[in-house]
Amino acid sequence: MRIGVLNGPKLNLLGERDPQHYGTMTLSEIEELLVERAAEQGAELCFFQSDDEGAIVEWIQTQAMSVDAWLVNAGALTHTSVALRDALAASARPFVEVHLSNVFAREPFRHTSVFSDLAIGVIAGFRASSYTFGLEALTSHLREQTGV
Ligand code: DQA
Repeated sequence: MRIGVLNGPKLNLLGERDPQHYGTMTLSEIEELLVERAAEQGAELCFFQSDDEGAIVEWIQTQAMSVDAWLVNAGALTHTSVALRDALAASARPFVEVHLSNVFAREPFRHTSVFSDLAIGVIAGFRASSYTFGLEALTSHLREQTGV
């Protein structure tokens, strides 16, 4: 099974950006951890990070045929991007939404996601572990779906 891991604006700055909310691991360290966990779960990953909404929407469209599911931390686009919602819906692939911080314990504008109703589920507040929990949730969902 192949999973596309998508990170939105400014998640390339993890490690130095707001460590009290996002922890101290860099995006590369999180990706390395995910590769290890994915191998244990028989999954292969492909990664993409961009600050550019259009580039993200395009990446989803070009990768959709070659992935089984998405692990998505869209950063601030979570709260605003109908284009991203439409791209995820059009891909017809299941996804788990993750956030490093507990968005519900922060400013009210972070309490709303424009696509969480399309997600299998949402994991927020566990810093880097949100991604590993999300990956596990996604691989067990895919296994259930395919009966493997
Ligand atoms: C975030 C939460 C968003 O509100 C914020 O804009 C981010 C990161 C998180 O992982 O906690 O960029 O998605």
